Amino acid sequence: MSVKKLISALPKVELHLHIEGSLEPDLLMELADKHQINLPYSNLEQINLAYNFEDLQSFLDLYYLGASVLIDEDDFYQLMWRYLCKCKEDNVVHTEIMFDPQTHTERGIDFSVFMSGFLRALNQAEAEWGQSHHLIMSFLRHLSEESAFDTLAAANPYLEHIHAVGLDSSELGNPPGKFTRVFESAGKLGLKRVAHAGEEGPPEYIWSAINDLNVDRIDHGVRCVEDPALVDHLITHNMPLTVCPLSNIKLCVFDNMQQHNILEMLNQELLVTVNADDPSYFGGYLNDNYAAMHEALEMDEKELIKLIKNSFKASFLSQETKQHWIQQVDNISNSILYESTD
Ligand code: ADE
Ligand code: ZN
Repeated sequence: MSVKKLISALPKVELHLHIEGSLEPDLLMELADKHQINLPYSNLEQINLAYNFEDLQSFLDLYYLGASVLIDEDDFYQLMWRYLCKCKEDNVVHTEIMFDPQTHTERGIDFSVFMSGFLRALNQAEAEWGQSHHLIMSFLRHLSEESAFDTLAAANPYLEHIHAVGLDSSELGNPPGKFTRVFESAGKLGLKRVAHAGEEGPPEYIWSAINDLNVDRIDHGVRCVEDPALVDHLITHNMPLTVCPLSNIKLCVFDNMQQHNILEMLNQELLVTVNADDPSYFGGYLNDNYAAMHEALEMDEKELIKLIKNSFKASFLSQETKQHWIQQVDNISNSILYESTD
C-alpha cells in the first residue's frame, strides 16, 4: 500500500517523453476533424485495436500518421498543455521533453509554428504552478545527416529555449555514428546530448552513442546487459539510462512486464530511471509506469525511492536544485513510511 501512496506523493522527474507521443485519441480526432484529415480510424475502439504493435517500426508508422493532424500554433499548444497538466496531476515537478522538428518541417510546418505553441504552454504552466522543464530537440535517424544539419540551423533562433539534442526514430540500420558531426556541432553550441540506443539495436549502438556522439545519457539502453564490459563502463561512468517499461512491453522488447530487466539493472548499480516515452500509445504516463512495475515486479519502497532519486541525479537540473528535490523525496517518503501502518 505504501508503494502506491509514494508513487503519487513523491515529486518526480521525467527524462524521456516524446511530446508527439502524448497525443491522446480525443485530441487526435478533434484535430483531424478541425483540419479535415482522414485517418484510418474514427473512434476509440478502432484506435485501441490499431495500437497493437509488433515492433518499433509498426508503432512509428502510426506515430507519424497521428502527428499529421498537428498543423497550427494552437494544435501544438493544446498538445503541450495537456501533457503539462498530466505532469501536475502525476507530481512530475521537472520534465525534459523531446520534440521532433523534422516530423513537422517535412510537412511544411515551420519552427515558428510549433515553437510558439510549445512555448506558450510551457510559460503558462511555469507561471500557474511552477512547472519546470527543459526541451530536447531530437533528430530523426532514418533521415540524412544533411537534414539533421538543416534542422540544427533552423533551430538557431530558438536555441535559448533548447537544452539538448537527441536521436530517435527507426534504430536498426541507423547507427549513432551516422550523426557524429551533427552532435559535434550541437556540442559546440553548448547543447547537451542524448540518443536512443539499445532499445532494439545491439550493444554496439550504445558504444557508438558514447564514443561517437559523446552523449550525456542513453535513452532506453536495456540491451546493454548483453555486453558485460559495456555494463561496467556505464556503471563506472555513471551513465544514465532512461528506461521506459510500458513502452518496452508494447513494442515487444520484452514479452511481458515480469520479464523486464529494469530492477536487475538497478540492483547492479546502473543509473536507471523510469519514463513514459509515448504515453498515449503505450498505455500510461509516468505514475502508470511505476505502478506497473510495482504490480509485475513487486518493486518495493526502497527500489522506488532509488529510481526517483536517480531521475533527479540524471536530469540536466543544477546540482543545487537536484539536492533540494532529493531532500524533499527523503522528507516526504520518511513521513509516509513512518506514518504508514499497513
Ligand atoms: N520516437 C518516438 N518514440 C520512440 C521510441 N520509443 N524509439 C524511437 N523513436 C521514437
Ligand atoms: Zn523514446
